[in-house]
Amino acid sequence: MIQQTQGSRLDIRGVNKFFGDFCALKEINLTIEPGELVCFLGPSGCGKTTLLRIIAGLEQQTAGLLHQGVTDISRKPPKDRDFGIVFQSYALFPNMTVADNVAYGLRSIGMPKPQVASRVSELLAVVGLEDHARKYPAQLSGGQQQRVALARALAPSPGLLLLDEPLSALDAKVRHHLRSEIRSLQKQLGVTTIMVTHDQEEALAMADRVVVMNNGVIEQVGTPLEIYQQPASAFVASFIGAMNFFDSAPVNGQRVRVGNRELDLVRPLPSDQSCVQLAIRPEDVHLLPNGDGEWEGRVESMDYLGAFIRTRVRLSEVELELVVDVDPRSARQLELQVGACVCLNLPSDALHCFAA
Ligand SMILES: Nc1ncnc2c1ncn2[C@@H]1O[C@H](COP(=O)(O)OP(=O)(O)OP(=O)(O)O)[C@@H](O)[C@H]1O
Ligand SMILES: [Mg+2]
Repeated sequence: MIQQTQGSRLDIRGVNKFFGDFCALKEINLTIEPGELVCFLGPSGCGKTTLLRIIAGLEQQTAGLLHQGVTDISRKPPKDRDFGIVFQSYALFPNMTVADNVAYGLRSIGMPKPQVASRVSELLAVVGLEDHARKYPAQLSGGQQQRVALARALAPSPGLLLLDEPLSALDAKVRHHLRSEIRSLQKQLGVTTIMVTHDQEEALAMADRVVVMNNGVIEQVGTPLEIYQQPASAFVASFIGAMNFFDSAPVNGQRVRVGNRELDLVRPLPSDQSCVQLAIRPEDVHLLPNGDGEWEGRVESMDYLGAFIRTRVRLSEVELELVVDVDPRSARQLELQVGACVCLNLPSDALHCFAA
């Protein structure tokens, strides 16, 4: 089996990046621990690739410092930094065989020939391509090409592996398969890894921690569970998973009014707000038989999505339509159908609140 590398810690302090007048990254502070897999997640144009390229030295930050382990890499050129990188497009050398692609980085650091050969076969075995060593990239599928790119990036045992949307050019099945392969390889090697993605499912499934970015700032850093269950901002709450939002007026520090109802919250409200946004996930709304719940409403639509039914319920007392995910079994028991009257509860421990 392949040897573990010593993953490095990466410390990013006060990084800013301007392209002319345009501020692409604002005051980025982030520490990535040795052996961690961190995903940069956010909408198109939020600065994910720019931050990754700054870490690689392919782009120069306007301000701020980067340390890899104890080394200040802030001004080092890419060739003097210790990383391997995989891009979205396979970016293999088309005129070189698979083996030569993987050997490329090893030859350029002057590794003796016999060692190169054994390292190349070791890596091709790790990515399951030992039988394809003599082929050229054009003779491989997209998933196979991306495995070669991964083997090439890992060949010199870098302390840091950088992946920029490595799976987004692949079809769903290959993507899912390669996702778990990359994750188990990364764990096995212990290499500190940053993966850029705009696919939230990919980030939640693979990452130890997710960095949610928007408009050049970090909105939240947390484990997939924290990001999903305790979103730090309305942006994170709306970007990750589905969420119902509605306005409310504070009554006191932990109580709000919605229409002519008052709701208790388990967390204190943001202070000095005349209006706060409440939010609840579709799976957290409890649907109950008519007459049994706190709110009454009418089913507007039902979409069967396999594991659950996405149901829209229009409330009667307030101007509000909620999306509720119901499992098919409960839907049968409730005799749920479009036009039916239902009741629902909004459990206070499932309510999130954000400054409006
Ligand atoms: N060389 C450049 N010159 C000018 N603006 C740039 C340059 N590179 C990136 N930008 C701008 O900086 C912003 C962030 O770009 P970046 O490529 O980091 O986004 P991203 O989060 O990776 O998006 P995507 O998901 O689409 O890949 C964008 O508005 C982009 O237009
Ligand atoms: Mg990008």
